[in-house]
Amino acid sequence: MAASKTASKTAPKTAPKAEPYVLVLYYSRQGATATMAQHIARGVELVPGMSARLRTVPAVSANTEQTEDDIPAEGPLYCELADLRDCAGLVMGSPTRFGNMAAPLKYFLDQTSSLWLSGAMIDKPAAVFTSSTSLHGGQESTLLTMLLPLLHHGMLIAGLPYSEPGLMSTTSGGTPYGASHWAGGDSKRPVDEVEATLCRALGQRVARLCAGWST
Ligand SMILES: Cc1cc2nc3c(=O)[nH]c(=O)nc-3n(C[C@H](O)[C@H](O)[C@H](O)COP(=O)(O)O)c2cc1C
Repeated sequence: MAASKTASKTAPKTAPKAEPYVLVLYYSRQGATATMAQHIARGVELVPGMSARLRTVPAVSANTEQTEDDIPAEGPLYCELADLRDCAGLVMGSPTRFGNMAAPLKYFLDQTSSLWLSGAMIDKPAAVFTSSTSLHGGQESTLLTMLLPLLHHGMLIAGLPYSEPGLMSTTSGGTPYGASHWAGGDSKRPVDEVEATLCRALGQRVARLCAGWST
């Protein structure tokens, strides 16, 4: 008892807890997935007390001697393992590539074994988003396969519920498995209002789950 009294007198003041954040992690080469990430971040920040942390990943090269700069030339910073370890929740996005996520994002995920071993991601809410050129060219397969590593990490998966009116009315992107965007044949079609609304809804939903609200 005496020891605990002494300890309480001398215990250092605990540092103030950092504001919880949702990590919006994505890869984008032509900018569509990056635009979606910004809409998702806006949705996250609609939830009081929650902030969004936008991070990307470097491209991978077939030339193994070529390395990327540590800091990207533009846009958000590259994601570090600590960004992932310390997030309250995750929303992860990739262009559709042959019906699957892009290699740079998979390459990043393949470096997260230490987080898997420590169980750092268990019970954290997570969701996914994608952009594709063709309307039926693999958005849903990309979203579903992106969820697999997150399930291995023990994360709690959130999709989009049909209470979002855009899910029924969309003539472009938007799925119950996550947000999506139809970028069109030239990959330049802008993110439309329905797609943007669903992106915001997804970010907001993950942030609400992180904050312990019911959805
Ligand atoms: C290697 C490669 C594979 C692709 N595979 C598909 C595909 O399977 N289905 C599709 O609709 N679009 C496919 N695309 C097109 C991209 O998904 C599309 O341009 C996307 O909007 C790019 O996103 P970004 O602007 O974020 O880079 C592919 C593009 C590349 C470079």
